Amino acid sequence: MPLRVAFIGCGQIAKDHLKGLRALREQPGAPELLLSAVCDPFPERAEAWVKETASLENPSPVVVTDYRELLKGPQRPDIASILVPHHLHLEITEAFLHAGIPVQLQKPIGLGLRDGRRIVELATETGVPLVVSEPSVLGRANRNTIQWLRAGKEIGRPVFMIDQAVIDLEGGFFMTPWRHLKGYAGAGWFIDHGVHRTHWMLEAFGSCRTAYARTRQLEPLRRNERWGEIPVDTEDVAGAMLEFESGLICQWSVMSGGRGQGHWHVQVWGERGSLHGPNYTVSGSKTPTPLPVPAEDSNLPLDPFAHSFLELIQLIRDPKAAVISTPARALEAEAIVYASLESAHTGQPISVAEVLSGQHHAYEDTVWAARDALRAKNLDLFT
Ligand SMILES: NC(=O)c1ccc[n+]([C@@H]2O[C@H](COP(=O)([O-])OP(=O)(O)OC[C@H]3O[C@@H](n4cnc5c(N)ncnc54)[C@H](O)[C@@H]3O)[C@@H](O)[C@H]2O)c1
Repeated sequence: MPLRVAFIGCGQIAKDHLKGLRALREQPGAPELLLSAVCDPFPERAEAWVKETASLENPSPVVVTDYRELLKGPQRPDIASILVPHHLHLEITEAFLHAGIPVQLQKPIGLGLRDGRRIVELATETGVPLVVSEPSVLGRANRNTIQWLRAGKEIGRPVFMIDQAVIDLEGGFFMTPWRHLKGYAGAGWFIDHGVHRTHWMLEAFGSCRTAYARTRQLEPLRRNERWGEIPVDTEDVAGAMLEFESGLICQWSVMSGGRGQGHWHVQVWGERGSLHGPNYTVSGSKTPTPLPVPAEDSNLPLDPFAHSFLELIQLIRDPKAAVISTPARALEAEAIVYASLESAHTGQPISVAEVLSGQHHAYEDTVWAARDALRAKNLDLFT
């Protein structure tokens, strides 16, 4: 019998997850996977998504408009892939875990750390497998880079990192307006893009001790042809200094309010050389060298989303299986972003462990207030 997978949310990332599912079908030894159902409260959106993206699926997935229809009865899946905006992560994950259905959840784990902590607890309480799909640490290429850095051979121990991303949205939206509203997203692009980066850093360098940051909001009104003008309440510039337990310092910048030329740069310096993209350069050498590719990696899926489904299937088969993208690690990654936001809010350097445990939440309180204000409005600012 194939494993039946239901997609909850028919937006952008659902397309990449279907590609991942298809890639995993090609993986030797992988179980048979069937996209049995898709769910979206907007039926025409779900129907259009199936037509555009999943028309080759045979049989065609069933379309439902309420995820609760999938919790029991004939449409009950073996796996729920939750592909919805951040404010819905806890509610929907909780329902599936309580129904005993394994979950693959999107990043960030929760709208705020309060939701993220609850999701981690629910996974433990129910014992139902849960992974957070974090593509930056999954897939063959990402695993290779992380393992290579951890081994610390060619460039030595990593000591410094620059991680910069600046995009020009021309005053519009990063894909969808909800990403610019605290009550749906938690923070701006800093959290959306940011948790990918902090999750990667945790995998490569270990725990982060302290964050010190400044943020600004340059564009409180955003507009484009499709959505018109929408007032937004999230930062669009963030500059942070992160200090890791290993001693590594990271200078981290994220700007979605940039105008003109964008900028994307990630580089790690070790004691003897630096990593840049898929290459490294050792001090004294003028020639970049491609990272070595270990033969044992050939069993890992190339596609990070395929790898994420594989991790969940491994957990279903063996609850003790060591998976990479765990809920606890996703929470720690989100805590680094929130520690930076708390730091910018209070003007003080902030301990990541203290944010993780809930000791500091002044910024996060503003997210919950924004969430309460939006709840009554029930806007559709999605996909
Ligand atoms: N590279 C990545 O890993 C990556 C990239 C993009 C998005 N994401 C994550 O994926 C999630 C979704 O992002 P997106 O870009 O697909 O957003 P999106 O706005 O394109 O799609 C969200 C979909 O969820 C639907 N939805 C809203 N309420 C729902 C409900 N109650 N039940 C079912 N569906 C509901 C919306 O109608 C919409 O179709 C977010 O958590 C986001 O951070 C991850």
